[in-house]
Amino acid sequence: MILLACAAPASPPPILLSAYERALSQLATITSDIGYHPSGLWQLRRAVADHYTHRGLPTDPDQVLITNGGQQALSLLARAFVEPGGTVVVEAPTYPGALEAFREQTASLQTLPVGLDGFESAARAARGPDLAYLVSTHHNPTGAVLPSLLRRRLAVAAAHADVLLIDDEVLAHLAFPGQRIPPPVAAFGATVVSVGSLSKSVWGGLRIGWIRAARRVIDRLARLRAVHDLGGNLPAQLAAAYLLPRLEGLCQDIAADRQTRHDHLRAELARRLPQWQAPPVTGGQTLWVRLPHGDGDSFSQTALRHGVAVLPGSGLDASGGSKEFIRIHFLATPDTLSEAVHRLTTAWHAYGDGHDGGAPAPRSMAI
Ligand SMILES: Cc1ncc(COP(=O)(O)O)c(C=O)c1O
Repeated sequence: MILLACAAPASPPPILLSAYERALSQLATITSDIGYHPSGLWQLRRAVADHYTHRGLPTDPDQVLITNGGQQALSLLARAFVEPGGTVVVEAPTYPGALEAFREQTASLQTLPVGLDGFESAARAARGPDLAYLVSTHHNPTGAVLPSLLRRRLAVAAAHADVLLIDDEVLAHLAFPGQRIPPPVAAFGATVVSVGSLSKSVWGGLRIGWIRAARRVIDRLARLRAVHDLGGNLPAQLAAAYLLPRLEGLCQDIAADRQTRHDHLRAELARRLPQWQAPPVTGGQTLWVRLPHGDGDSFSQTALRHGVAVLPGSGLDASGGSKEFIRIHFLATPDTLSEAVHRLTTAWHAYGDGHDGGAPAPRSMAI
């Protein structure tokens, strides 16, 4: 089976081993620290704060909370700020793990197009949303990058309506070579909360993420975090504190390879499945592919039977749309991607023309 559904690095990079070696020697020197840090290790909070300051968003360490990956950041935010039956504004399509976190709080989801076009009026509504959620940079699944002007508009509208706007930057560091990304949305407004993680730039198994927000928001989340699990794993945080200042260089090292794989997958799709639309992206890890007929749910079942797992678009779209899309990641080696497209082509021919909608595919973990 070739797994093109879950998008994340397949193995830890060598620098993670060096980071852990260093972390272990630091552990040996600890003499008076019981190891419980609900807001995160100060050293790592400072490294994350410096990282934002360097990107043009001045940040103090006490504006940062360390989490177990970006997913815990989203679920803490949902728990803290979504009232029972409250509304969360989301893009359609978007990252399915965020939808799950909001649904877990019984939120009703109000969808807007990618980039939250129409957010100004949604935020001003009589009973405004409890939260809004955006993936501004290398959007999952479309790869879109929101321009600075629109970032400013969203941040200003969120501040006017006093709505917390979550800017999910988990994929922000995955730009292809030569692509400059705009400043974080939080650089334009005080009610924007940034979420980040090392899962896509380093390795998902590290489980290090963070939230950057106003102090009052961080204080509330820290209390919730203490109830939740009393804080994260300290050796991992020591390793992450070593990695954070090196993140830019690390991402540059992998960017060219990522782009080669993206170009290779698109070339293979264009050659074998020219009717499929797979627009290029400038970073991230996925292509958002429109099928010329049929639907992603039933086609993904056919693809599974031919040895390739792809993600049907419907699970990423709370509006009930995106049925004609599938998401494919391009992180595999060129040889694997060629083999995957070969199998997808056979699956597509077996799938045929006569499809007018199938049963939704069973949901599994989608990242
Ligand atoms: C946009 C986005 N946010 C958050 C996450 C979850 O990140 P983590 O693995 O750090 O929990 C993912 C994972 O795919 C993602 O794509």
